[in-house]
Amino acid sequence: MSITLPTTPAPVPPSGQTSGLSSSLDLAAERAVDRGLHLEGEVAAHPERFRVLTGERPTGPLHLGHYFGTVANRVRLQQLGVEVLLVVADYQVITDREVAGDVRGAVHEIVLDYLASGLDPARTTVFQHSAVPALNQLMLPFLSLVTVAELDRNPTVKAELAASGAASMSGLLLTYPVHQAADILFCHANLVPVGKDQLPHLEMTRLVARRFNQRYGAGYFPEPDGLLSAAPTVLGTDGRKMSKSGRNAIALRDDADATARAIRSARTDSEREITYEPDRRPEVANLLLLTALSTGRSPQEIAAEVGGRGAGQLKQLTTDALVAHLAPVRARRAELAADPAVVAETLAAGAARANALADATLADVRRLMAMA
Ligand code: TRP
Repeated sequence: MSITLPTTPAPVPPSGQTSGLSSSLDLAAERAVDRGLHLEGEVAAHPERFRVLTGERPTGPLHLGHYFGTVANRVRLQQLGVEVLLVVADYQVITDREVAGDVRGAVHEIVLDYLASGLDPARTTVFQHSAVPALNQLMLPFLSLVTVAELDRNPTVKAELAASGAASMSGLLLTYPVHQAADILFCHANLVPVGKDQLPHLEMTRLVARRFNQRYGAGYFPEPDGLLSAAPTVLGTDGRKMSKSGRNAIALRDDADATARAIRSARTDSEREITYEPDRRPEVANLLLLTALSTGRSPQEIAAEVGGRGAGQLKQLTTDALVAHLAPVRARRAELAADPAVVAETLAAGAARANALADATLADVRRLMAMA
């Protein structure tokens, strides 16, 4: 199967927008950004020294926030020659949900989104948790390395509990950061591109690696680095961060009409003159950002061009830019979706590779723990 690669959007310098996370994470995030700049240089010079693992929960099709943020970055790393593994984190879907959902359908849509965006299954490993038993088994020794107090301190887990509206924390919600450590360490990944909400999980991963190494085998696991994306946060049509659950998203799989409708309905403000001021005018800035990401131009330049012609004109420009930029990706997606085997083949190949790595790691771990 050959995949034609769409052009990846040009990187845009970080804007002042934040995703509204607690300031306790901001310091860690700043450190990660600094370290990320250094790592970017290393990755470009020595791609063969890095193994990337990242992924997401299959809770719905990917939207433009994912596409311009995380997915474009993965495609870029793949093109640099870094080995990339992507976990479709199906066991994490049940951390904060009490009813069954169509996980299988969501996995299918995400894999189509990946392939259409330019992730090449010949080079990038795409797999589900539930297809890699040895990965899941690593959670048992890893759980023995952390305390309940450490699990209790994770701000992202607390935020997810609050957002879920559930009355109490499930055992899996409390411990899934350790499961995530297994996702990362089973393949000895040393680089984990994530958003800053995931940094506490990365700290947990580093803690697990460090303690395992101290107790059972010096140097066995790497302590992986997080790589924060330089792409600014894409907002949804209501001015809040674009999210699968927020009903404010434009999905990658949407068609041109749905995209035009969503942009037309997007919130703006009452000022006629268009300017790029992410802090003061986040909604207008977001339209400029989407246009910039789609065209490789700067948001400031686009703002100057629209000038006094107002938000209506800007929306037209944004729609045209998005629709044109996404057309090849969407055409490719439709082609892939019409092939009944492509998703299953991608996941089977990914599972075979992930299982080989996970089986070897579990065998090492059991040997180091004197179990085998
Ligand atoms: N927890 C991540 C999320 O909710 C998804 C995820 C699972 C992940 N395993 C991972 C991300 C490993 C990075 C590395 O988005």
